[in-house]
Amino acid sequence: MKKQAELYAGKAKTVYTTDDPDKLILHFRNDTSAFDGEKVARLERKGMVNNVFNAFIMQKLEAAGIPTHFIERISDEESVVKRLDMLPIECVVRNISAGSLCKRLGVEEGRDLEPPIFEFFLKNDELHDPMINDYHIITFRWATEQEIARMKELTFQVNTVLKQLFADAGLLLVDYKLEFGRFGGELVLGDEFTPDGCRLWDAETRRKLDKDRFRQGLGGVVEAYEEVAHRLGIELPD
Ligand code: TMP
Ligand code: ASP
Repeated sequence: MKKQAELYAGKAKTVYTTDDPDKLILHFRNDTSAFDGEKVARLERKGMVNNVFNAFIMQKLEAAGIPTHFIERISDEESVVKRLDMLPIECVVRNISAGSLCKRLGVEEGRDLEPPIFEFFLKNDELHDPMINDYHIITFRWATEQEIARMKELTFQVNTVLKQLFADAGLLLVDYKLEFGRFGGELVLGDEFTPDGCRLWDAETRRKLDKDRFRQGLGGVVEAYEEVAHRLGIELPD
């Protein structure tokens, strides 16, 4: 399979077409961004760490019966995925209060959320990813009612699998964001699952081990991602 044209460059990944119309190559770059592209930096090793991390998580999810776009990792920073027709929607589940939930509702950080909270956001940087609900999605035809139900079902299934996986490594899965796309008539998990798109805290000390280290200028961003990988037993190239 050959890499062809650049299809799309996002804030942290570049997507390439290949000679197979159903497959794309994701290149995880060292670029990091926060606040809808307002704060950016290049962080050495981040592309490689996220690519290897994402491959590990996607394989765990597939093994648990969750359909994902992931096919294989082909280099330190690149993976082959199925080409999905992506929905312009972000699905967030929150197990512990943090981030925009605290700002929006005046809730203190660190509160256990039982049952966990599900939120939809529109993927649109210029509009700062506004929160939307089922009605917006149906009326503006961003997805069907059945697809909404499936996104919720799959996003909560991911929670069951990953909360346990991280708990076994002494980590709390605070919240995370997923994106889905259509492939052959079914919804499939796309994009990535890395510490760029979730919050992970040390279960004992509640030390932040995710992109909040970058957002909040705490330093040691990639070191924290590597620590998470190490605790999960993921082997990273030198
Ligand atoms: P939030 O607290 O900023 O709404 O984010 C909730 C979770 O979703 C957090 O783990 C970060 C992730 N997220 C992204 O990865 N990208 C985004 O554009 C948004 C809005 C959230
Ligand atoms: N992913 C978004 C950005 O890169 C939002 C965030 O993670 O803070 O700007």
